[in-house]
Amino acid sequence: MSGILDGKRVLVTGVLMESSIAFHAAKLAQEQGAEIILTAFPRPTLTERIAKKLPKPAKVIELDVTNDQHLAGLADTVREELGSLDGVVHSIGFAPQDALGGNFLNTPFESVATAMHVSAYSLKSLTMACLPLMAEGGSVVGLTFDAQFAWPQYDWMGPAKAALEATSRYIARDLGKQNVRCNLISAGPIGSMAAKSIPGFSELASVWNHRSPLEWDMADPEPAGRGVVALLSDWFPKTTGEIIHVDGGLHAIGA
Ligand SMILES: NC(=O)c1ccc[n+]([C@@H]2O[C@H](COP(=O)([O-])OP(=O)(O)OC[C@H]3O[C@@H](n4cnc5c(N)ncnc54)[C@H](O)[C@@H]3O)[C@@H](O)[C@H]2O)c1
Repeated sequence: MSGILDGKRVLVTGVLMESSIAFHAAKLAQEQGAEIILTAFPRPTLTERIAKKLPKPAKVIELDVTNDQHLAGLADTVREELGSLDGVVHSIGFAPQDALGGNFLNTPFESVATAMHVSAYSLKSLTMACLPLMAEGGSVVGLTFDAQFAWPQYDWMGPAKAALEATSRYIARDLGKQNVRCNLISAGPIGSMAAKSIPGFSELASVWNHRSPLEWDMADPEPAGRGVVALLSDWFPKTTGEIIHVDGGLHAIGA
């Protein structure tokens, strides 16, 4: 059976639990014919355990996106395993507790800086770390939560996602000549570890129950994973700097 990622080699970050969007992107990518390699934070053992639930084995490499040594060694390690890359999935987000949950006006810059470093700047760091492996071009895909609006509880993750969205556009600008595309999936709320670490996240998510045109299931990360795989494929060959909503259509509804 042929798949839309046949012959493609893809690096997937962010597989932590089965509820991780990245787990579903990785699973679907393998099902669609890709060879994948995973990166893990904070510990490879956790990701290795979850990786056993994937359809095929996948090597796991430790990667803290704020660690320059990890980033510097990434291309060589991936080259040994896969030779080159056609795609990179950035599925990484983090903000300290005092940057979330209604503390927006009192959050110290140190915590804001951490949120920005891990959640936004890392799209650039990861892309550049993988660029030597994408000599033939490639597709970088990240995950955002619509940064056009101020949401309850989301606090400094909001500006971090706005920075991620802008960073994606600038990567698209600067790497287009090398045929490297950079796009984001703007996902609706999913009950992952990252979401559960946001105090009051269920209040935010409940908006989807009455405003989303399509029924939204917070327990199902697969639609977001499908969006990621579509952007990794050759079916969006001239799309870059784009944000595609996989949010049940809520972004289109005013009230
Ligand atoms: N869950 C949602 O409602 C939702 C909605 C829209 C977008 N997103 C985004 O999707 C992406 C994946 O999140 P998820 O919901 O699957 O949750 P998740 O908790 O499963 O994934 C977050 C990942 O970020 C990784 N990470 C954190 N700090 C890191 C670091 N320093 N270096 C490398 N990796 C690091 C964690 O290891 C984890 O795998 C994030 O960018 C998140 O903001 C999530």
